[in-house]
Amino acid sequence: MKILALQGSPRKKGNTNRVLDEMIKGAQGNGHEVIKYYLEKLDINPCSGCEICAKGKDCRYDDDGAEIIDQLAQGASVILASPIYFGQMTAQAKTIVDRFYSIFNNPDKKFSGKAAMIFTHAYPDKDIYEPYIKLTEAQPFLNNTELEYIETLEVAGVKFIGDADKAEDDLKKAYEIGQKF
Ligand SMILES: Cc1cc2nc3c(=O)[nH]c(=O)nc-3n(C[C@H](O)[C@H](O)[C@H](O)COP(=O)(O)O)c2cc1C
Repeated sequence: MKILALQGSPRKKGNTNRVLDEMIKGAQGNGHEVIKYYLEKLDINPCSGCEICAKGKDCRYDDDGAEIIDQLAQGASVILASPIYFGQMTAQAKTIVDRFYSIFNNPDKKFSGKAAMIFTHAYPDKDIYEPYIKLTEAQPFLNNTELEYIETLEVAGVKFIGDADKAEDDLKKAYEIGQKF
């Protein structure tokens, strides 16, 4: 199986990336091919709402986002990984999520494969982000794609680069989720 690992933190070697790499290792250990995308450095236009996809046509943007979307429409699985920024995923992550619409909204395209998410944040408790995480599991994943949803890993209490190295239980869990692909 091909898995697209979408790294949504602008910090290339930050906490999200650390946890994501562990999940990738778990997936690769099961023989899957993983392609990691560092979203910050890619050319991904935000969805313009033109609705051309509703007519069964490809997205108007032939950019790096199209490369990701094309693979998802051909059956790739996905890991969406992002820090929490003011209670939500980063703009980099949301920009590609909105482009999922060009599959969801296209009568001739569909997702298949599996999905998981990673969220990292500085706040030490998990309760506060539970509603957001549940909503994000529902949309886009459970409600708007045919992807088989595996699990969300929320890593709390990590703020500075390197903090995730100490989150041993979470790193182990990330590896285990990777093995579920
Ligand atoms: C603009 C910005 C907004 C943030 N908002 C939150 C927040 O709402 N809640 C929180 O717990 N941490 C927040 N953080 C902290 C990050 O989630 C935390 O540092 C995370 O580990 C960063 O992941 P990274 O190392 O992969 O970039 C924020 C950080 C930045 C830069």
